[in-house]
Amino acid sequence: MNVFIVGSGGREHALAWACARSDDGVQVLIAPGNGGTRGIAESVAVNPVDADAIASIARARRVDLVVIGPDAAAAAGVADACNAGGIPVFGPTAAAARVESSKEFAKSLMDEAHIRTARWRSGGVEDIVSLQAFIEELDGRCAVKADGLALGKGVTVCGSVSGARRALEACLLHRRFGEAGRRVVVEELLQGPEVSVLGVTDGQRVRVLPPARDYKRAHDGDAGANTGGMGAIAPPPDIDVERFCADVSRDVLQPCVDALRSRGTPFVGCLYAGLMLTSSGVRVLEFNARFGDPEAQVILPLLDEPALTLFASAANGSVQAGVARRREAAAVGIVAAAEGYPEQPRTGDVITGVESLDPDVLCFQAGTALHADGTLRTSGGRVLCVVGVAGELEEARLRAYDNIHRVRFDGMHVRGDIGRVHVTASVPAGAVS
Ligand code: AMP
Ligand code: GLY
Repeated sequence: MNVFIVGSGGREHALAWACARSDDGVQVLIAPGNGGTRGIAESVAVNPVDADAIASIARARRVDLVVIGPDAAAAAGVADACNAGGIPVFGPTAAAARVESSKEFAKSLMDEAHIRTARWRSGGVEDIVSLQAFIEELDGRCAVKADGLALGKGVTVCGSVSGARRALEACLLHRRFGEAGRRVVVEELLQGPEVSVLGVTDGQRVRVLPPARDYKRAHDGDAGANTGGMGAIAPPPDIDVERFCADVSRDVLQPCVDALRSRGTPFVGCLYAGLMLTSSGVRVLEFNARFGDPEAQVILPLLDEPALTLFASAANGSVQAGVARRREAAAVGIVAAAEGYPEQPRTGDVITGVESLDPDVLCFQAGTALHADGTLRTSGGRVLCVVGVAGELEEARLRAYDNIHRVRFDGMHVRGDIGRVHVTASVPAGAVS
């Protein structure tokens, strides 16, 4: 079977790895991949958001399944182009991906489907007065969110009326997030630990994957800037996995899938629910239209069924509803980031030590490139993610830390508390997330 992964990050390395190990005869193409994917996949030099190019390569190379990694590729219509060409694809159409690419769309869908979420209002610059009134009603304790895709930076968590007004103006008047901030969602501030639950769906049925928790802040103790994710664990130790997955599937994922189908835009692919466990129950913070990064790197190694079969069942409409089989184990993924990440990551530093990792530890590369002189060098902010898997979370954590410290590059930054403390929602007032 020929599978074609779209994207270049750690998530796509993990997707390629999971597909390659699903069956003996799997050939993996990746567009364009990174310095770590070469051993398992053939790199194709094409831009992941060039939908027509992806579809025509898939046709020319007789690909059996296209797997879309990043949100930008889904929003750019890669699945639409594949569908038009009759190529099976795991990933949503641009219309279904609006559940991630427009927060306003997602909030109204949640209301329509009775999915519990924070109270909210939305609008554009013409609605600024009523949005300011809502901020005052919430006493400034709110999250101000750019409607569109803003590289994970479009959310400002606020603790005061003045801070929230500034965030609103920065978005709508000063266009801090460009076109993504043409409209805005303001919602009440919630508190509690966060959990991510992802489900594979064919547009009708959902198969729930092991839940995960990512660590978004740059520094220990949830300090510093928001990042794409500095590490992740699966499953979080503070939930009863089987029951939680079944509840989230019934109350969140299935209603979302049903609502998208009844709007005429069925969602095929991985639907990601970002949840907060508040004192009054589970609330949805966001939906993503894809696997999380670095959540995929800890979820896929725990899956006890072939990932490729699961992805193909979504593409051909035969998903078996329920909770996916998982290994009775825990996974801890730690990201090594480049100096300057997330603001201005430095690139070009030589990476050593990757070959000295234990054979049972996984290393998913992201911002790496293999240079002509044979050196592996940094080429992005999140450089790689080392994943330890063991029977217990603590053992997985120790294994991952022991190994990541064998990797070296100038300016390497690693959080020291992944898997040790639970992320809570106690973000400092006014922090940008
Ligand atoms: P989002 O992209 O909507 O998930 O928001 C990014 C991060 O901002 C989340 O992971 C939370 O940590 C935080 N956040 C978003 N919405 C809220 C909210 N209503 N209350 C508290 N924190 C929030
Ligand atoms: N790690 C968060 C995300 O992928 O959205």
